Amino acid sequence: MFVISIAALKRNTAILREVKEAAGCNLVLALKGFSCWKAFPYIREDLDGCCASGLWEAMLARDHFGKHVVTYSPSYDGQDIAALCEFTHHLDFNSLSQWFRFREQVMAHPRFKSGELLCGLRVNPQHSTGHTPIYDPCVAGSRLGITADQLQGADLTGLSGLHFHTLCEQNSDDLETTLAAVEEKFGHLLRSPQFTYLNMGGGHWITKPFYDRDRLVRLVRETREKYGVEVWLEPGEAVAIHCGVLRATVMDVFESAGHKLAILSVSATAHMPDVMEMPYRPDVFLADSRSSGTASPCVTLPGESYHLAGESGEHTYRLGGPTCLAGDVAGDFSFPRALEVGDTLVFDDMAHYTMVKTTTFNGVKHPPIALQHEDGRIEVIREFVYADFRDRLS
Ligand SMILES: Cc1ncc(COP(=O)(O)O)c(C=O)c1O
Repeated sequence: MFVISIAALKRNTAILREVKEAAGCNLVLALKGFSCWKAFPYIREDLDGCCASGLWEAMLARDHFGKHVVTYSPSYDGQDIAALCEFTHHLDFNSLSQWFRFREQVMAHPRFKSGELLCGLRVNPQHSTGHTPIYDPCVAGSRLGITADQLQGADLTGLSGLHFHTLCEQNSDDLETTLAAVEEKFGHLLRSPQFTYLNMGGGHWITKPFYDRDRLVRLVRETREKYGVEVWLEPGEAVAIHCGVLRATVMDVFESAGHKLAILSVSATAHMPDVMEMPYRPDVFLADSRSSGTASPCVTLPGESYHLAGESGEHTYRLGGPTCLAGDVAGDFSFPRALEVGDTLVFDDMAHYTMVKTTTFNGVKHPPIALQHEDGRIEVIREFVYADFRDRLS
């Protein structure tokens, strides 16, 4: 079961609110990172709306969050544009060819004419600061965003915003050097009165304890003053980090070629795909009421104590999922005692990105989803049944 803590979400959004108020900018939730909409009523107040990656996320934002809808997609079709023009507030394009293709349609819309709908371009400042190539939109040949040379001499009539997204789990020092690259390549556009907003994307790890929020506030303020633009931030991870866990049951335990193996009720490939894609090693806890624990995951249940798994030791198990994929393995984890069928293992920090990326590969059962309310009450908000699997593809 995925369990999301409302208290933890509110702790994050309170920080985000404080930062955006100090900086004088708008801050929206990137739905690609967290779109469990039954939690939206608890965080709506603190944020300015949602950032959508296309029509369906934009509709979810409109229907369940309200406030501002800021949409950017690497590509739209004519139907997307017609639908989005009815309600999105920003419509950001990834290429000049997409903008030229839909410019007339958008500019003829009454909401564009009245100024309710603004259009922007995603730019690529060609300034890499990240460490994981698949998360770097500034790599040579990137398909994400327009480079400065492509803009030279282009007719930009109708556009009023620029958008960049270049960070991933980064501190504000990387934003500072990115803004210097933006100034160098696109500063002349931002200075012109035609451009009224700058969207600085996501990847800002604002709610991490070590994140330098004062610097972010300073950078946003300086940007607003320098260019006279509205600034938008659209974090996903910073909203839902340390807010949810995935609870798994040990289904089987046996040995093969000297390895202790545990088959779990959850799958790495189907339910925690980033563990394999990124890849990364999650924190795993054994929930145990028999002995007192030493550390806790971000969501705990009454009566349970927890033992954080280590890397080696007598009771080291390879934790695998119930699918056919040989590599459906979350890693080797060491526990203070032998695992038994029926034990509960808790995978920490599984709310952001993990939940939006799950699949039913192999027909594995999708874990139910629950909210933990501030009074400790657990509310199961979604249980999955056979029909959910059956009806997805036909
Ligand atoms: C355009 C855009 N905006 C916002 C985000 C959210 O980023 P994060 O969840 O790292 O804050 C992403 C993530 O990929 C993105 O591509």
